[in-house]
Amino acid sequence: MTRKLVIDTDTAGDDTQALLMAALADSVDLEALTVVAGNVEFDYEVENAKYTLDMAGVADEVPVYEGSRSPLVKEFDHVDHVHGEGGLGGELFPETGIDSADGHAVDAIVAAARESPGEVTLACIGPLTNVALALRREPDLNDLLDEVWVMGGALATLGNDTPAAEFNFWVDPDAAKVVLNELDVTLVDWGLTLRQGTIGGARLDEFTEADTPYADFCAEITSHARAFSEERFGTDAATFPDTLTLACLVNPDLVEEAETYFVDVDEREGMTRGYSLIDELGITDGEPRTRVVESVDEAAFERMVGDMLVHADPERSV
Ligand code: BDR
Ligand code: CA
Repeated sequence: MTRKLVIDTDTAGDDTQALLMAALADSVDLEALTVVAGNVEFDYEVENAKYTLDMAGVADEVPVYEGSRSPLVKEFDHVDHVHGEGGLGGELFPETGIDSADGHAVDAIVAAARESPGEVTLACIGPLTNVALALRREPDLNDLLDEVWVMGGALATLGNDTPAAEFNFWVDPDAAKVVLNELDVTLVDWGLTLRQGTIGGARLDEFTEADTPYADFCAEITSHARAFSEERFGTDAATFPDTLTLACLVNPDLVEEAETYFVDVDEREGMTRGYSLIDELGITDGEPRTRVVESVDEAAFERMVGDMLVHADPERSV
């Protein structure tokens, strides 16, 4: 059975690979994209999203709704220094000429949920501004949605944007707090990404040798990130947090261990802005409602990425 899917994205870097995975997988029906402020300047994100859909041959079927251009409350910085100017490696600046859909992303999320109660899965791979606003517009959002998957947080591990925080939660911690407090979320965090959602340069080069359009695109969007990784960590590799999230959603068998905990976010400005607390020992009286993905079948994940890039079919060996 195909599942209806809406993706909220700050399209740059591996968001593109996550979108490709969703567009190419037969088990999900990608209904819409909603764009949120995050990785790079907003208009670049919108074009990056449309370009990716176009590449997957679904730009006619999947509307792109523009959403929040800034977080709920706070100022933030883009991360072009990670993904390259524009977010696709630094040399690709699409101008697709494709129109955005009429209406605001927040309304689109609410409308999709109301139209098919209990049938729509929401995948959130950017800061959570649009989703928090959708919750304020439709307080029953949790009941109306099927599943909610979020990439964000750095659980009991160092952040990537600051020592305390992962980027998506750092950008809009107020929104992340609302979403984790009020929705039943399955969470893929930065720690899992480092443990099992990172692909080494040699493997990435193997994909590129296939010389397919998707593999070439992946090589392009990871070029800057690989250099960044080399400089910061001394390792030639690229992280795929958003792709890992979509892979688990598309193929739930990928998830080997998951536990439900109370997870909360520090929304205060300052050193711990965006810090994600996980109450692993049940010490607080916070309600455990966040399902945390703790380990995945890493080899199967890499296979899905390879099958997507080389054979245009992420579910080829699922
Ligand atoms: C997250 O931040 C972005 O740069 C990535 O697209 C991912 O969603 C990782 O911290
Ligand atoms: Ca993202």
